[in-house]
Amino acid sequence: MQQRSNPQVQKLIKSKVSLAPMAGITDYVLRSLVRKYSKEALLTTEMISSEFLAQNVQTEITKLDENHHPIVYQICGHKPHLMKYSSEYLSQFADMIDINMGCPVNKVVKGQDGCALMKNPQLAADLVKAVKEGTDKPVSVKFRLGYTQDDMNFVEFGQQMQEAGAEFITIHARTRSQFYAGKADWSKIKQLKENVDIPVFANGDITSIETAIEAIEQSKADGVAIGRGVLGDPTLIHRVAHYFKTGEKLPPPNILQKLDMMKLHLDEEIKLRGEKIAIKFFRKFYPYYIAGIRNASKIRGVLVVEEDYNKILEYIDYIRQENKETDKILLS
Ligand SMILES: Cc1cc2nc3c(=O)[nH]c(=O)nc-3n(C[C@H](O)[C@H](O)[C@H](O)COP(=O)(O)O)c2cc1C
Repeated sequence: MQQRSNPQVQKLIKSKVSLAPMAGITDYVLRSLVRKYSKEALLTTEMISSEFLAQNVQTEITKLDENHHPIVYQICGHKPHLMKYSSEYLSQFADMIDINMGCPVNKVVKGQDGCALMKNPQLAADLVKAVKEGTDKPVSVKFRLGYTQDDMNFVEFGQQMQEAGAEFITIHARTRSQFYAGKADWSKIKQLKENVDIPVFANGDITSIETAIEAIEQSKADGVAIGRGVLGDPTLIHRVAHYFKTGEKLPPPNILQKLDMMKLHLDEEIKLRGEKIAIKFFRKFYPYYIAGIRNASKIRGVLVVEEDYNKILEYIDYIRQENKETDKILLS
């Protein structure tokens, strides 16, 4: 189908790769880390509740560096006036405002937010219109294949969102009832591509250059959105974007490089949140950075309970030394 191209959107998605929004993960620090490697990829914030923003609460989620552009701010909610207010407020930071229509979490869908909107396309369309009223930036939507396997309404839903004014779609190729189970079905996305004329990014299970190529081949999408793949490897987005641009496959970071990235990630979280909170917050990231090293589970077990920054540095150093001489057994 002929693309109804908004040149502004085309510029934002030029790299053909975006960082997918992940609550509690794609914070200011992770966005900065991804940007360190990829100058052009489209970044996305964690979702920001419109109810929360309407209470004028200051949040570090909005924190922005000049080099974070191009960046999408994602909002969730189901009340048009609050979504309009949020898009107005976030326009000072964002290059595009995205609406979360894919979150599967019980608490979220019970409140009619996230993927519940796929069961209520009229309200979803009203939200797109309200968000557009609040901003002159492009407005995008992120949704799934449908609410259940028996109700995969993603093609019609995408058309309805386009009709309401959405200018870009990210689609996670699973249903709400799948949550994160099974495998994302990229081939389904092709049906959406053939029936809308705004750009579409494929999402779900893209964890390497090879899976990005396969996702594009199967979906015919305009690009890919990568979420969990950046855990433990903030270079992935750059490597995929670089491949799309040049055809060259850059190697993934080795263990020693990953340890450096892990330390930088931790140090920056400490700067953002303070040492005590950051050390606890960071526990979810260790397993990804140290995956593949010898005795990873033992080391993970130690790191995720450690509260002392200097001890953490000692462990990191220990892993570094042990992995220089791979014959030795770690923490035995
Ligand atoms: C911990 C976590 C938090 C997430 N938070 C959001 C969110 O705030 N907004 C959203 O649209 N999707 C969210 N997602 C979904 C991801 O954006 C993405 O659609 C999904 O993880 C599949 O892509 P992936 O396989 O590349 O991770 C989240 C996923 C995870 C694992």
